[in-house]
Amino acid sequence: MGIVDADIYGYSVPRMLGADRDPVVIDDMLIPPSNHGVTCISIGYFVPEGQAIIWRGPMLHKALEQFLADVFWDEPDFLLIDMPPGTGDIALSLSQYLPRAEVYVVTTPQPAAQKVAALSAAMAAKVNLPVKGIIENMSWFVGDDGKHYEIFGSGGGQELADSLGVPLLGQLPLVPELREGGDNGTPITVADPESECAKAFQEIARRIAAELKPKKIFSSALKVS
Ligand SMILES: Nc1ncnc2c1ncn2[C@@H]1O[C@H](COP(=O)(O)OP(=O)(O)OP(=O)(O)O)[C@@H](O)[C@H]1O
Ligand SMILES: [Mg+2]
Repeated sequence: MGIVDADIYGYSVPRMLGADRDPVVIDDMLIPPSNHGVTCISIGYFVPEGQAIIWRGPMLHKALEQFLADVFWDEPDFLLIDMPPGTGDIALSLSQYLPRAEVYVVTTPQPAAQKVAALSAAMAAKVNLPVKGIIENMSWFVGDDGKHYEIFGSGGGQELADSLGVPLLGQLPLVPELREGGDNGTPITVADPESECAKAFQEIARRIAAELKPKKIFSSALKVS
């Protein structure tokens, strides 16, 4: 499994994954670091901590190209591209570099957030990338009293899924352990795999791998006849 942190301005994947070793350069290839069985590349490896990336579109386009073409990905089962919010340069570049990519849209249950997430789905349709499913984050918080509190309202994920005719793949609760794990590089699926939240992640992954598995269209294997 590989992850491209395509959120160049707001990179966060290396920290969340605890993949803090820098990539290794061999000839012209970058060997990306991995942790918890996930390999990742991010602009975070190439800038000093705290430095902001202030780039116009063509620079972003070039960085994304290098992430895809100059990194030794081996042959991962899945290459996940973590997109920045919005429908700007990166989203446009991605649709050009990976015209067969498939899109999963993450929203919160709140109508205002769902409307914004719907714009990403609308862009995907415009550039001919299929939206395969919706994931709802921050669906509820379980209080010490065991009650579910729907802090951001309810129904946004299901509504978006229905309007696009795709499945709602799962709902992730708001849990402090997830936030902590993101900050210290231990994903909740590793830190506490039996928790409600980790199980929701596992079920989403299972559904993508089993029900929505992308078709393998290209093979890099040489055919010698
Ligand atoms: N369900 C959750 N429970 C607790 N904390 C969460 C949850 N989801 C996200 N967070 C926290 O919020 C931070 C930002 O979340 P995340 O990176 O998923 O946002 P995002 O949707 O990618 O935002 P953006 O669209 O700006 O990139 C995470 O680092 C994590 O700490
Ligand atoms: Mg993000």
